[in-house]
Amino acid sequence: MTLETSEAVLSIKDLHAVVAETGREILKGLNLEIAPGEVHVIMGPNGSGKSTLANVIAGNPTYEVNKGQIFLSGDEITHYPADVRAKKGIFLAFQQPEEIPGVPLSQFLRQAMSERQASPVSVLEVRVQLQEWLKQLNLDPSFAERQLNTGFSGGEKKRNEILQMAALSPDLAILDETDSGLDIDGLKVVVEGINIIKGSNPDIAILIVTHYANILKDIEVNKVHIFTDGKIVETGDKNLASLVEKSGYAKWLTP
Ligand SMILES: Nc1ncnc2c1ncn2[C@@H]1O[C@H](COP(=O)(O)OP(=O)(O)OP(=O)(O)O)[C@@H](O)[C@H]1O
Ligand SMILES: [Mg+2]
Repeated sequence: MTLETSEAVLSIKDLHAVVAETGREILKGLNLEIAPGEVHVIMGPNGSGKSTLANVIAGNPTYEVNKGQIFLSGDEITHYPADVRAKKGIFLAFQQPEEIPGVPLSQFLRQAMSERQASPVSVLEVRVQLQEWLKQLNLDPSFAERQLNTGFSGGEKKRNEILQMAALSPDLAILDETDSGLDIDGLKVVVEGINIIKGSNPDIAILIVTHYANILKDIEVNKVHIFTDGKIVETGDKNLASLVEKSGYAKWLTP
């Protein structure tokens, strides 16, 4: 293991992954390294494999890694189950969050926080922490007693993800299109949320999958990656995102 690998929060080497059921290859040799405190952005055309990458990092069993390795803070996690990865500090905000009727957000978070901390978290402790985060994120206190994602509007789902991310204090947070379908206020919650979370956890590594340069205006971004056909084809800074917004991906697509 190289020193570089153990220093990065996330280190991905020559990652290839297939859809388990069909064997179709989606990720085709991807390399990525995110150091503590860094924010990286991935932009790429529809269907290029961005959500697949997010799911493969989180350990979704729908996909199988057939080549390459994933390291979290130096530990190889390539074939670990999703729950182990979550406990080790990977958080994935889903593009389409799951609805779990009957479970209030506070109860879900209590369980997730207990697993993350490897010790039971009391009802009171969760309530106190949640109310603090709700205040900081400018969310209504009643939000914590809503049932998980049930009847949430698109914007509320995204606010809920930011709240979960804040409460779980992950080492690596992956936000898949957190800006899609958000109104201006919702986008503000996400951007401010990320900044508040970064403020309380400066070493957090964040990977944002997005189609819009807009979300990047008020977030300090270290690297922007262009992703096409299962791999990263160019890496740059925020200017790369503006270029994509202006001219699209034609430059990187093979005819
Ligand atoms: N479980 C699956 N079964 C079959 N095909 C899949 C599965 N998951 C992903 N794919 C295929 O892999 C390709 C990449 O999908 P993915 O959702 O990762 O793209 P994306 O880059 O996130 O796109 P978008 O920008 O539209 O969100 C697509 O062709 C998709 O149909
Ligand atoms: Mg996607």
